[in-house]
Amino acid sequence: MSWKKGQALQNEKYIIQEVLGGGGFGVTYRAVEQRDGKPVAIKTLSPLRQDQPEFPKLQEKLIQEAFRLAKCSHSHIVEVYEVFQEAELWAWSWNI
Ligand SMILES: Nc1ncnc2c1ncn2[C@@H]1O[C@H](COP(=O)(O)OP(=O)(O)OP(=O)(O)O)[C@@H](O)[C@H]1O
Ligand SMILES: [Mg+2]
Repeated sequence: MSWKKGQALQNEKYIIQEVLGGGGFGVTYRAVEQRDGKPVAIKTLSPLRQDQPEFPKLQEKLIQEAFRLAKCSHSHIVEVYEVFQEAELWAWSWNI
């Protein structure tokens, strides 16, 4: 599953704009929060990883990343905004 431009997540809370990039296990999208039009980044598991048997474990890692970062407070570390589940995918957002 990959999210497409214009797609709404979280019951219309976010609208996907584009893919910003990806790394070893995640894909990061640019989206806007409809309520106020503020841009956010949303990271979820890469589509390449979603078909693998480790899918549940990888989702755990993605969630753990968010909770670990949420404990940090540093100008070079993003501030986690929200952790959420969209259909079968866990994701987390931050303001950009
Ligand atoms: N605020 C942003 N503006 C522009 N591009 C961004 C932004 N945040 C992330 N990216 C892009 O998204 C990619 C993924 O970034 P992110 O930090 O979310 O994951 P990663 O640590 O690089 O990858 P992984 O955790 O999957 O190994 C980055 O390489 C960058 O290209
Ligand atoms: Mg990383």
